[in-house]
Amino acid sequence: MSASPYDGDVDASGAAGTGTVPVRHHEPTQRHWWAGHEDALPEGLEWLSARERARCDVMRFTKRRNEYLLRRWVGKRTVAARVGLDTDPAALARIEVLNRMTGAPYVEIAGALAPWDISLSDRAGCAVAVIGGATTGEAPALGIDLEVVEPRSEGFVTDFLTPAEQDWVRGPATEDPRLGHDAAANLVWSAKEAALKVLRVGLRADTRSVEITVESEPRGDGWARFAAAQQIGQVMPGWWRRDGVYLLTVCAQGPLDPPSVLPGATDVARATPVHSWVVSPLVTPGE
Ligand SMILES: CC(C)(COP(=O)(O)OP(=O)(O)OC[C@H]1O[C@@H](n2cnc3c(N)ncnc32)[C@H](O)[C@@H]1OP(=O)(O)O)[C@@H](O)C(=O)NCCC(=O)NCCS
Repeated sequence: MSASPYDGDVDASGAAGTGTVPVRHHEPTQRHWWAGHEDALPEGLEWLSARERARCDVMRFTKRRNEYLLRRWVGKRTVAARVGLDTDPAALARIEVLNRMTGAPYVEIAGALAPWDISLSDRAGCAVAVIGGATTGEAPALGIDLEVVEPRSEGFVTDFLTPAEQDWVRGPATEDPRLGHDAAANLVWSAKEAALKVLRVGLRADTRSVEITVESEPRGDGWARFAAAQQIGQVMPGWWRRDGVYLLTVCAQGPLDPPSVLPGATDVARATPVHSWVVSPLVTPGE
């Protein structure tokens, strides 16, 4: 049974007393995250697989291409750090970060489907990925989102947030010195994006179809809880953290402990937001 709305659904089935029927508990499994800044992106494109390169080659807008490359590199480095693989270009090319029809990412290593979920996000030159534990079988879905704390208008709050979320942003969160209006509005937005990635719909869905409740007091490790309630059904647990100008949210289908950061990650709290694409918005042919 769920102990609190932050724990998510626990799905257990089986015949009591037999001792032989498999019982499926969605125990919290260890999740990991990693972050990278575009300053550290490798030279050249040898670290992409042929399939990834083919997708990249048709991108004509620098912003889209840069973000795609940064998310690929961060996804691959996350897998390499989690599994203990090399990070030279040839080794990274064997780790593929591909997309399903929905847009949701998945990983293949040397052509074999990896057994855990991955989620990716980037914002202003920084990208993050969260990855499931190295378990076999069904991998509970994950969602991650990265935002910069930036001004959010009243129109934004009214159009994209539920009435309860609007009340929280305009009231307690605005008065809370740990948050304030803009951080709170960005936080609710980010938590929604992470939740809608878990549901595999992204912004195809109405952002008001999930309602976010937030604990604003972080734990000692910087993580604080949130919950994403669907209109009908599950309450998905989540964690958020504020690192410098960035807000990071992680959400999951089932019980979720805060993810642990993997070695070699960029310190997001010190990362500078950049918009390098503006100097050359169109990809130069042959690049
Ligand atoms: C998911 C979505 C909300 C993320 O948008 P964003 O905030 O601009 O970008 P982020 O950097 O946070 O996340 C991008 C990543 O989300 C992931 N993603 C995309 N669609 C997803 C989905 N349906 N479910 C889960 N994850 C998804 C992908 O990994 C993507 O990176 P990749 O394409 O390099 O693999 C947005 O892409 C979306 O709504 N997609 C579905 C609708 C769609 O396809 N629209 C067409 C473009 S207008």
